[in-house]
Amino acid sequence: MKVLVVGSGGREHALCWTIAASPLCDELYCAPGNAGIAEEAECVDIGAGDVDGLLAFAQENAIDFVVVGPEGPLVLGLVDRLEAAGIKAFGPSAAAAELEGSKGFTKDLCRKYDIPTAAYERFTDAGAAKAYIAAQGAPIVVKADGLAAGKGVTVAESVEEAQQAVEDCLLGGRFGEAGNEVVVEACLVGEEVSVFALSDGKTALTLASAQDHKAVFDGDKGPNTGGMGAYSPAPVMTEALAAEVDERIIRRTIEAMAAEGKPYKGVLYAGLMITQDGPELIEYNVRFGDPESQVLMPRLMSDLLPALIASADGVLDSLDLRWYDEAALTVVMASKGYPGDYEKGTLIEGLEAAGSDDNVLIFHAGTARGANGELLATGGRVLNVTGRGATVEEAQLRAYAAVDKVEWEGGFCRRDIGWRAIGRES
Ligand code: AMP
Ligand code: GLY
Repeated sequence: MKVLVVGSGGREHALCWTIAASPLCDELYCAPGNAGIAEEAECVDIGAGDVDGLLAFAQENAIDFVVVGPEGPLVLGLVDRLEAAGIKAFGPSAAAAELEGSKGFTKDLCRKYDIPTAAYERFTDAGAAKAYIAAQGAPIVVKADGLAAGKGVTVAESVEEAQQAVEDCLLGGRFGEAGNEVVVEACLVGEEVSVFALSDGKTALTLASAQDHKAVFDGDKGPNTGGMGAYSPAPVMTEALAAEVDERIIRRTIEAMAAEGKPYKGVLYAGLMITQDGPELIEYNVRFGDPESQVLMPRLMSDLLPALIASADGVLDSLDLRWYDEAALTVVMASKGYPGDYEKGTLIEGLEAAGSDDNVLIFHAGTARGANGELLATGGRVLNVTGRGATVEEAQLRAYAAVDKVEWEGGFCRRDIGWRAIGRES
């Protein structure tokens, strides 16, 4: 079959790498892709947000199945448009993508269906929000309701900081339309973990667990990023905890969405806090995680493509996925300055040597080829260097040994990805 993957990051490289290996896949395209993806798929110059362009390409090229990577096109209704045109696609409808597109929608759903999450209120009025914050006290969390490229959340240590975040959002227009409403919620304390589940609207198939590092610097310091590294499995996720998450959070959500007339198909990414009172939902994403996919895909023994198709077809209950026991850990290499301003077009060398170990995989995020075929960094997050090993510690050793072979003046990475898991292992 002909498959089109939409997106251009490390997540999409990992998805393309996995899907290209499927015996079901005859031809693989990626829009728009990147220099690494070009080794697995034919890259097509259509942006991930260009819904009309993607639809036209899929129709003209008789694409059998579309796998949507990022949330943007999902919220814009790409899957609805493809399905209306008779093209099968993996991912939620625009209505179901509200789980990521509106934090207020998700919080209300949790309240109505008894899904554990932090206590909260929704506001469009700054005065009312500030009064609520003053009454609750700090620490407290302020979130822009809509999509804000991962920057819409303020975990405030003081009442003033929280009130400032409300002003920036509701009065200052900091996140545009996405910030016309805010959610103010209690601050959860514990360890964060990500859980991924495929759903076909009725049933859920939970995938492996993973943990990412959002802060830019070692020791989880500095501003938040899209993720500076990740590993799987997450040792904090015991079998008992996984069963609890499955029952109280994932399954309840799938049932709730069906009951609301917005059946959820695709992959549900639950960001959780493991608190003293058990797991609580921080947020949902309606897509695979990035860089979590760069550690999940290498651990997958089964063919992913039939599972994605079963999700679209509503027959996921007939499927199971098998995983390698081995751990995987990925280190994100980013352009110096990220998540702030950074230089574009810096030269990267040494990837062949870095990727020569069979237990190392290099997924590209922001790369392109220069005029003479040289590899250039074009984004903030640029490379994901994934190591595999018997333990997270071994995977980490392999990943950093490979990182050290990458010659890139303009780049940097954290040196402590996996510290928490390795602490637990020893
Ligand atoms: P989000 O964009 O919703 O993933 O939030 C970004 C980060 O903010 C999360 O990964 C958490 O570290 C933190 N966060 C969000 N909500 C809360 C909360 N209620 N309590 C504590 N930390 C939170
Ligand atoms: N790793 C965070 C995300 O994919 O949103």
